[in-house]
Amino acid sequence: MRVGFVGWRGMVGSVLMERMVAENDFALIEPIFFTTSNVGGTGPAIGKDIPTLKDANSIDDLKAMDAIISCQGGDYTNAIFPSLRAAGWDGYWIDAASSLRMKDDAIIVLDPVNLGVIKDGLSKGVKNFIGGNCTVSLMLMALGGLYREGLVDWVSSMTYQAASGAGAQNMRELISQMGSIHASVKPLLDNPASAILDIDRQVAASMRSDAFPTDNFGAPLAGSLLPYIDKQLDSGQSKEEWKGQAETNKILGRSANPLAVDGLCVRIGAMRCHSQALTIKLNRDVPLADIEQILASANDWVKVVPNSREASLKELTPTAVTGTLSVPVGRLRKMNMGPEYLSAFTVGDQLLWGAAEPLRRMLRVLLD
Ligand code: HSE
Repeated sequence: MRVGFVGWRGMVGSVLMERMVAENDFALIEPIFFTTSNVGGTGPAIGKDIPTLKDANSIDDLKAMDAIISCQGGDYTNAIFPSLRAAGWDGYWIDAASSLRMKDDAIIVLDPVNLGVIKDGLSKGVKNFIGGNCTVSLMLMALGGLYREGLVDWVSSMTYQAASGAGAQNMRELISQMGSIHASVKPLLDNPASAILDIDRQVAASMRSDAFPTDNFGAPLAGSLLPYIDKQLDSGQSKEEWKGQAETNKILGRSANPLAVDGLCVRIGAMRCHSQALTIKLNRDVPLADIEQILASANDWVKVVPNSREASLKELTPTAVTGTLSVPVGRLRKMNMGPEYLSAFTVGDQLLWGAAEPLRRMLRVLLD
């Protein structure tokens, strides 16, 4: 299979390359790398010889592919994909961008959760396979068992989303903000006799000053949080919040009979792990031990963390999870509202299961 890669140099693309090398995926395909800026240049080191870079804007070159994986972003998809299909290209389009996600002729890929939906689509001739929103994919990796068993009435998800979801420049800005705060009070911090309220005043003044680096986030994130992610919609939801229900139901193949998913999406100062506090309304009173077993058995990556302080602080944090494929879910308990109300907290790497991993696994599904 000739597989074209576009946008392999960016953050999601780089994570995809690392994962494909680690899983030896390139041995199974003929990879062709495309570029928007360096045609004829040298492609990435993937452990085998590859041709020089082809033009990502050349419909003729793209048409020669059996499949194309794009991590180039939504503008590229919007500009190229319609022309490619109009030119008669019938290959598989696998995309990290959201542009095509909700189209009727596209499937959102998350095979540990919806392999049945993917296979059904393939048998019906679907050719467009799109990665889901990171928060939605990570929530479904954690709660897949409850959905599979048909136990979910509704879910409310309160998110704690990492800087990486906003982009590479935002990750850099978060660190710059942290450094800027520290630098503003370093002499006071170094003096054990200094007053904490003086330090606090100086930190607030620094964060509110025009000199504080906020070009990318538009507001201070370090030492604070941002209770709005993505565009504003007329419904009162942010676009990120709207995606929760729309994409969950599309992934599960039940858009015609949707389950309610809603909540608030909040940016916090983590680097690349999104966390979510979940309130789950079950449709019956299931014993907690059964719930834990159902959650743990759903896929190879979800991990039930005991609801203890020690285990939660050790295993259920962005720091513990970052850079891994593990999706821990913990803080599991029945809530005061009644035995059908389950509390849960989950963490997942936004660049792995939230972005790159479902794409490389979709390629594997095609190769099976
Ligand atoms: N929209 C997500 C975020 C990342 O801003 O965190 C992409 O799925």
